[in-house]
Amino acid sequence: MKGILLAGGRGTRLLPTTLAVSKQLLPVNDKPLIYFPLSVLMLAEIRDILVVTTPEDVPQIRRLLGDGSRLGLRITYTEQPEPNGIAEALVLGADHIGDDPVALILGDNVFHGYSFQEILRQECRDIDGCVLFGYPVRDPERYGIAETDARGRLLSVEEKPAAPRSNRAVVGFYLYDNDVVDIAKNLSPSARGELEITDVNRAYLERGKAKLVDLGRGFAWLDAGTPEALLQAGQYVQLLEQRQGVRIACLEEIALRMGYIDAETCHRLGVELEKSAYGQYVISVAEQFAAR
Ligand code: G1P
Repeated sequence: MKGILLAGGRGTRLLPTTLAVSKQLLPVNDKPLIYFPLSVLMLAEIRDILVVTTPEDVPQIRRLLGDGSRLGLRITYTEQPEPNGIAEALVLGADHIGDDPVALILGDNVFHGYSFQEILRQECRDIDGCVLFGYPVRDPERYGIAETDARGRLLSVEEKPAAPRSNRAVVGFYLYDNDVVDIAKNLSPSARGELEITDVNRAYLERGKAKLVDLGRGFAWLDAGTPEALLQAGQYVQLLEQRQGVRIACLEEIALRMGYIDAETCHRLGVELEKSAYGQYVISVAEQFAAR
């Protein structure tokens, strides 16, 4: 399965901070925002990842993540010159997807929850159609919204509806079979001139091939698109990290635990960052792992 991480857009709700820095590079407590969606792909055992971002942001994000080989990944980059919608990433990424299924994740979505890895492992297997993830929100008019029947079957998906039929948002992480390339290529722009991911999802729904998996209340799904949301995401991560002494979305740790790198490599990556608490943590993870 291939991965696409969309770090597009101009981050206009975070101006002036995003005048010079990509939103996805802003810190969520101790690490850049983009680490969070990348960690989800890594946990889903997806190692071949295309980052789609603006021409200005490619060099900076490449400086951070490189070609991914340090983490046992393959990371490549494609420019999205204009913010023409989330689904355009699937068109721009068609060659990368090739004949495989694909997981698309938005660069500003933060996921955290018990047994998420298990959910990922289950849902990424044998994809036939699309898998969407639902999460209850207080302000459904801001999101793609899913309506289901009493048995949890998907009835409709709507993008930012004025009169939402439910409070269940469709989060920014989507799994698709290979048909998605054709579906995305044949989309027409919406009224706001974008290729809408919700239209892709509706195409699957109309074919009877869209599934919704509820992430539920015990799970944290945060987006970090406004100053408040970014700060709240940082506070959430800080609280858990301080309390538990473990770090969320520590890429070196995930790469080690997933078997993408060995303890020696992990240790070396930690030493490069050793002046920071993050680096110290990576070193201690590598040492504990080696001593097992
Ligand atoms: C996008 C999608 C929306 C989804 C949301 C999740 O909205 O269009 O369907 O619910 O991401 O973060 P945006 O945040 O680009 O307005």
